[in-house]
Amino acid sequence: MSPFHLTRTLPEDAAGAALRADVHAGLTGSPKTLPPKWFYDARGSELFEEITALPEYYPTRAEREILLARADEIAAASGARTLVELGSGSSAKTRHLIAALTGLHTYVPVDVSESALTGAGRALAAERPGLDVHALVADFTARLTLPDTPGPRLVAFLGGTVGNLLPAERAAFLASVRALLAPGDALLLGTDLVKDERVLVRAYDDAAGVTAAFNKNVLSVVNRELGADFDPDAFDHVALWNSGHEWIEMRLRARTAQSVKIPALELVVDFAEGEELRTEVSAKFRQEGVRAELAAAGLELARWWTDAEARFALSLSVAR
Ligand SMILES: C[S@@+](CC[C@H](N)C(=O)[O-])C[C@H]1O[C@@H](n2cnc3c(N)ncnc32)[C@H](O)[C@@H]1O
Repeated sequence: MSPFHLTRTLPEDAAGAALRADVHAGLTGSPKTLPPKWFYDARGSELFEEITALPEYYPTRAEREILLARADEIAAASGARTLVELGSGSSAKTRHLIAALTGLHTYVPVDVSESALTGAGRALAAERPGLDVHALVADFTARLTLPDTPGPRLVAFLGGTVGNLLPAERAAFLASVRALLAPGDALLLGTDLVKDERVLVRAYDDAAGVTAAFNKNVLSVVNRELGADFDPDAFDHVALWNSGHEWIEMRLRARTAQSVKIPALELVVDFAEGEELRTEVSAKFRQEGVRAELAAAGLELARWWTDAEARFALSLSVAR
């Protein structure tokens, strides 16, 4: 079996301190918000995997279709010996890319979810003898220190996760990715594309209620980690299309007026009946917008591939 290492890049309780800061800022602000990274405890990661198999959730299938069709081209263009994947989750689709990267020496999956990293990393190390898997438990919005591994490096950011960052966060994030790239390195970015509003909303509001459970999971995380007394059943899942920003918003709407105690923050948060807490944005893109955002970060869009129905795009870009 090949080597599997896991490095926790965050100091002890850094995640706890970040959660406390985010929950305090988000629930005392107006409108109330929480950042989506807190969905992903072990249960949240499992629920996300269920989402990827839902009939309504086309992005995973569309991105897999592109990877299957283009993995050899991507491999030839990048010649990567190190693949760094940000927000890697289960690494399920990445397997197609890893198979095509014949000269790959090290795979570096990066995620906040240690359970997802451990499951995916161990399986991959066993499947691909000789591949070094060096998992990092890290926040990709913070400054990343990558292990010293052979180049060229391909940094992959799949799943449309880049759309979960707000525009200013995205600009800072892309600039930080650019700083990781040496000459010859590349970024492989998955972006969900603007399309019919009904298709988009259904993808975030499935009939089986899995996305609703995923959305409410953030309340369970706050309850467990900060001793809060959110009643997830007292909130409704809401998914809507914001046409001005061209993003989907997921929200939790209070069914009745209620107060929630968060002892770890010595905070009581009041919700009015019908008040909404925004838990995620998921921006949808157009090619020109992606090109412009990459260019602003010092990256040049070199290749652009979509699935047959042009629902999702993968782009390859290099440092300018
Ligand atoms: C939408 S899922 C995509 C998973 C996978 N890449 C895919 O395409 O199916 C987002 C992933 O990013 C991780 N994640 C979210 N915010 C993060 C952050 N700030 N830093 C590191 N990982 C994060 C989550 O744990 C989750 O595995």
